[in-house]
Amino acid sequence: MQTGKVILVVGGTSGIGSATAQLAAERGYTVVIAGRDPQKAAQVMKAIKEKGALAHFLQTDISDSRQVAHLVDEVVRLYGRMDAACNSAALDEGVGVALADVEEEAYDYQMGVNLKGIWLCMKYQIRQMLKQGGGSLVNVSSINGLGGAQGASIYSAAKSGMLGLTKSAAQEYATAGIRINALCAGAFKTPMLENVFKKANPDNPSQVEEQYKAFIPMQRIGHPSEAAEAILWLLSDQASYITGHSMIIDGGFSSSFR
Ligand SMILES: NC(=O)c1ccc[n+]([C@@H]2O[C@H](COP(=O)([O-])OP(=O)(O)OC[C@H]3O[C@@H](n4cnc5c(N)ncnc54)[C@H](OP(=O)(O)O)[C@@H]3O)[C@@H](O)[C@H]2O)c1
Repeated sequence: MQTGKVILVVGGTSGIGSATAQLAAERGYTVVIAGRDPQKAAQVMKAIKEKGALAHFLQTDISDSRQVAHLVDEVVRLYGRMDAACNSAALDEGVGVALADVEEEAYDYQMGVNLKGIWLCMKYQIRQMLKQGGGSLVNVSSINGLGGAQGASIYSAAKSGMLGLTKSAAQEYATAGIRINALCAGAFKTPMLENVFKKANPDNPSQVEEQYKAFIPMQRIGHPSEAAEAILWLLSDQASYITGHSMIIDGGFSSSFR
C-alpha cells in the first residue's frame, strides 16, 4: 500500500492509464488523472471513487506547455506534492501509413503529443520532484520504440525518443532521489489498439487481432491491468534501485529477436 502518496496519471482517461489510475487507487494512492476528454474521465473517476480513493480529473492537452505547467501546479495546489507520475498519453496518428506517405501535419501533431508532450510532462514533474526532494516517474513507451514496425515509422520514432528522454533524465536526476523508468508495451486491449486493428481491416478487425495473436508466444493480447501492475511496481519503493530501465511487457512477442 502507498497510503498518502499522490500519483499523477497523464492519459488516465483511457486504456493503460485508466487501469493504472484504478489500481493506484486500490493501492492507497491519491490519484489525479489528466487527459482531454471529460466524458471518458467521468467514467474513470466513478470507478476510482467507488474504491474510496481521493481523486481528481484535470483537463489537459499535453501538447501545450502552459497547460502542462498548470497541471503540475494544480496537483500540488490540491494535494501538496506529487510522489509518482505515469505518462501514458499518446496518439496513434500516422499508424498504418508508410513513411513517404505521412503528411507533415500528421508528423507534427503526433510528435507534439507523443514526444514533445511527454518531454513537457517530464520537465514540470521533475521540477516539482526536485523541490520536494524526490519522486518516481514511468513513461509508457512501446516495443515499437525498441525496433521499428511497418506502418509505424513516426510512432516508433516518438516511442524511441521517449526512451532517450527516460534514460538521459534517469542519469541526470539519480542523485536527487528521482527514479525514471519506461515501460515498453506490446499489445494491450485498449481503444488505441482496437483502432489500429480497425484501420488495418475496417470490415474485419477481429481477423487482424487473431493474426496478431498468432505471433505472440502467449497467444493473447495483454489486459491493461497487467501493464498497470508493472507500472505501479516500477513506481513503488520495491523498485528502489531501478532507474533508466526499459521494461518489456509483451507476452514474449519480442523475445526471439533480443
Ligand atoms: N495498447 C497497446 O497495445 C499499446 C502498445 C504499446 C504501447 N502503448 C502505449 O501505451 C500508452 C497508452 O495507450 P492506450 O493503448 O492505453 O491508448 P488509449 O486507450 O487510446 O489512451 C490514450 C490516452 O492518451 C490520452 N491523450 C491523447 N492525446 C492527448 C493529449 N494531447 N493530451 C493529453 N492526453 C492525451 C487520451 O486521453 P484523452 O482522449 O482524454 O485526451 C487517453 O487517456 C500510449 O503511450 C501508447 O502508445 C499501447
